[in-house]
Amino acid sequence: MLYVENVETFDLSVTINGMEIKRTVPTHLRLLDFLRDDLRLTGAKEVCGEGECGACTVIMDGETVNSCLILAVEAHGTNIQTIEGVTPAEGLTDLQQAFIDKHSVQCGYCIPGMILSAEQVQCDCENPDRETVKQGLAGNICRCTGYKKILDAVEKDGE
Ligand code: FES
Ligand code: FES
Repeated sequence: MLYVENVETFDLSVTINGMEIKRTVPTHLRLLDFLRDDLRLTGAKEVCGEGECGACTVIMDGETVNSCLILAVEAHGTNIQTIEGVTPAEGLTDLQQAFIDKHSVQCGYCIPGMILSAEQVQCDCENPDRETVKQGLAGNICRCTGYKKILDAVEKDGE
C-alpha cells in the first residue's frame, strides 16, 4: 500500500493464521485493506464495505467480525484467522468438502466468509441444529444459492 506523508501511524503487532506480524500502519487503515493489500490475503472480500454482507468475515479471538468495519489498529494484540489459515496445505477441511458435496457454491464470492462463520458455529456448538446454523450464518449474505444447500452442508458436516 502507498502511504501518504504526515499520516499518523501505529506499530501494529497481530497474530494472523498463527504467524506474528509486525507492521507500521496508518491509524486509519481498515483491517480488510491490511489483510488484502498489505498481506495479500485476498480470501476476505469486499462487497458492501458497510458491515451488511459478511463477505469480509474473519475470526478475531474466537468471534466472527466484519473486517471492513474494523481498523487494523483495533486488531493489535489479537489472534486472527482468515480463510487462508483454515484451508490445509493439501486438500480441504471436512466443511469445505461438504460445501462441494452439497453443491453449496455458485459464484463463490461469499464462500470464504460463509465458511469462516460456519467454522465458528461448529466450534461454538459440536452438533448445531438447523436453527443454530441459521443464526450463525445470519450475517453472511449470498446472492446465488438460496441458502438451503449452504445450511445442508454445515448441518451435514456437523453430524
Ligand atoms: S464488505 Fe464487510 S460486511 Fe460487506
Ligand atoms: S455463491 Fe455467489 S454470492 Fe454466494
